[in-house]
Amino acid sequence: MKVNVGPDPSLVYRPDLDPEMAKSKDSFRNYTSGPLLDRVFTTYKLMHTHQTVDFVNRKRIQYGSFSYKKMTIMEAVDMLDDLVDESDPDVDFPNSFHAFQTAEGIRKAHPDKDWFHLVGLLHDLGKILALWGEPQWAVVGDTFPVGCRPQASVVFCDSTFQDNPDLQDPRYNTEFGTYQPHCGLENVLMSWGHDEYLYQMMKFNKFSLPSEAFYMIRFHSFYPWHTGGDYRQLCSQQDLDMLPWQV
Ligand SMILES: [Fe+2]
Repeated sequence: MKVNVGPDPSLVYRPDLDPEMAKSKDSFRNYTSGPLLDRVFTTYKLMHTHQTVDFVNRKRIQYGSFSYKKMTIMEAVDMLDDLVDESDPDVDFPNSFHAFQTAEGIRKAHPDKDWFHLVGLLHDLGKILALWGEPQWAVVGDTFPVGCRPQASVVFCDSTFQDNPDLQDPRYNTEFGTYQPHCGLENVLMSWGHDEYLYQMMKFNKFSLPSEAFYMIRFHSFYPWHTGGDYRQLCSQQDLDMLPWQV
């Protein structure tokens, strides 16, 4: 998660104020070299082969009743001690550390916005799906819309989608695919992963957080949109208004 800018200047999160993040920001999200590249590429190859409209719809039904397990937030955070994100080219340590690191960075920068650093703590908790048997390609990594052709800034776009059956399907392999122009991201089916799962779980359990927090959780891995500048043709005005919270 890269929660570094908000619409209100007082909410600007400065990772350069965090010495740990500042040390590594020049090499952040390097997908062309590095010791973890093979593992990262394999995860994305599987993701871009198997994330289809049909797959996402099945997962939304499978997890839509939220009946698997009841746990506290801290129990979920502790579970992430057992998970290393195989899509992350930058780090090779468990995700619970990342959750605390992100929350602490935000807390230091915005001590007056209690919900803001809570988002930092929560944002990756959906990764516990990987500890319940889901493959990492269905949990972690950048997200992208299914049901239309992937756009250029999707990681490894040119080398990982050739075996995805949706791209042979004329309903789904055009620029807009199954969507109308500016239909709004709320009407777009995103690849299945920890963002959408946690967003749905928070909605189901009626979390008391601002709408910006829900939006940040739901789209924080949608790098092709909030960082790559793609998929604007699907956005509503509300999506564009929310964009500064994601970049
Ligand atoms: Fe995440």
